[in-house]
Amino acid sequence: MYQRTRYDFIQELVDIKNAGLFKDERVIVSDQQPAIDVIYPQGSPPKEVLNFCSNNYLGLANHPQIIDAAKQALDHYGFGMASVRFICGTQDVHKRLERRICAFYSTEDAILYSSCFDANGGLFESILGAEDAIITDALNHASIIDGIRLCKAKRFIFEHGNMESLEDALRKAREGLDIWDGSGLGKQPSPARNVMIATDGVFSMDGDIANLKRIVELGNEYDAMVMVDDSHATGFFGKTGRGAIEHCGVLGKVDIITSTLGKAMGGASGGFTTGRKEIIELLRQRSRPYLFSNTLAPAIAAAGIAAFDLLDQSADLRETLMNNTRYFRDEMTALGFDIVPGIHPIVPVMFQKYENDAQLSQMMARDLFEEGIYAVGFFFPVVPKGKSRIRVQISAAHTRDQIDKALAAFATCGKRHGII
Ligand SMILES: Cc1ncc(COP(=O)(O)O)c(C=O)c1O
Repeated sequence: MYQRTRYDFIQELVDIKNAGLFKDERVIVSDQQPAIDVIYPQGSPPKEVLNFCSNNYLGLANHPQIIDAAKQALDHYGFGMASVRFICGTQDVHKRLERRICAFYSTEDAILYSSCFDANGGLFESILGAEDAIITDALNHASIIDGIRLCKAKRFIFEHGNMESLEDALRKAREGLDIWDGSGLGKQPSPARNVMIATDGVFSMDGDIANLKRIVELGNEYDAMVMVDDSHATGFFGKTGRGAIEHCGVLGKVDIITSTLGKAMGGASGGFTTGRKEIIELLRQRSRPYLFSNTLAPAIAAAGIAAFDLLDQSADLRETLMNNTRYFRDEMTALGFDIVPGIHPIVPVMFQKYENDAQLSQMMARDLFEEGIYAVGFFFPVVPKGKSRIRVQISAAHTRDQIDKALAAFATCGKRHGII
C-alpha cells in the first residue's frame, strides 16, 4: 500500500478544493428530460429542477421510437458483443448505421467508435506522420487536442476563428518556414508532405460557428485536408440538421467529419468518422480505439439508426429548437443580460463586466438551482480568465412555460446580484 504518494494525492485534492475548482456530481434520479429530479447537495432529498445544461438538443434522449429501436435490438442482437470490431464485434446493425451516416452526409464511407472522443483520438496518428502538419484552432475540443498529441505531425495552432492566422500557419507549413532560421546554414526549409486543418464546427463554450466556407477555400488553395468535428451541430443545426457543415454551405466539401451520437442523436454514446473512403479504410487498419476497444453495443447502434430516421421524417423538432433558442436569447437580452450573440442553442450568459466574475458565475448557478433551474457556471481554467459565464443550453423539449420559468429565475437572481 503506498504511503507518501497518498499524502500527495490528498494534498492535490485539498488544493483543488481551496482554489474553488473542485467538480462534484449532482445525482439525477429520474430520466433525462427538461424536468429532472436531482440530489444536490449529497444527502439531501431529490428536488425537481428544470434542466438547462444538457446536450439533449432535440429531446431525443427519451424519444419512444429510439427507446423502441434499442429494445428491439436488445431482443434480437443481445446486450453486448464482447469483442472489438475486427475480431467478432461487427454485426449488420453496425454496418447499417455506418451506411446511414454516409447517406446522411453523402459521404463515401464511415467508421463507428464508442465515442467522438475516441474518433478524434484515433484519427490523426492513423493518417499523418512526422513529415506532415496539422493546423488546429486554438479553442478546439480536448479530444482533438489529445488526438493531435498522439500524432507525430508538426502542430500549428491558429488564433481562434482568425482566418489570417490560419492562412499564415498554412503558408509556414507548406514552405517549412517554421523551422528555418534564415541563415542558410544548418536547418533548411522543410515543407510539410501532407497538411490537415482541424476545427470544431461549433465551439462548445461560446456556441460560435467556425468559418467553414473560408476554411474549405483555404484548404483548396493550400492543398490541405479539412477535418471538422461537428458534435455540437449534428442533427439540429443547418436547414436539414446536417450541422455547421450544412449551415456554412460546405456539405460534400469537407474531407473528414467526426461527430457524436451522445448529444442531439439520442444522447447515449457513440461516435463516428465519415468522409473519403481511403481515409476511412486506413482508419479500419490503424486506428487504435477502433482496433483495441470494444464495439458499440448493438442497442446503441440500432437507436442511432432510429435517430437518423427521425431527422429525415420531420423538421418539427429542429424548428422548435430554433424558436425556443430565439425566444430565450431575445428575452435574456431584453432583461439586460450580457449574452454572447449568435443563433446556436448554446447561450453563454457572461459576467465579464465584473471583477468577481468567477464567484458571480458560481453564486448565480447556486441561486438558480434554488429557484429550480439547473445550469452550470464555468470559470478559469475551463474558460479564459475574466470570461466566466453560465452556459445555458436550450432544447426542443423545453416548453414555453419552462423557458419562462428559467427567464423569471434569471431575472430574480440577476437582480439579487446587481447584474440587471
Ligand atoms: C466538439 C466535441 N467533440 C467531441 C466530444 C466528445 O464526444 P463524446 O461524448 O461522444 O466522446 C465533445 C463532447 O463534449 C465535443 O463537444
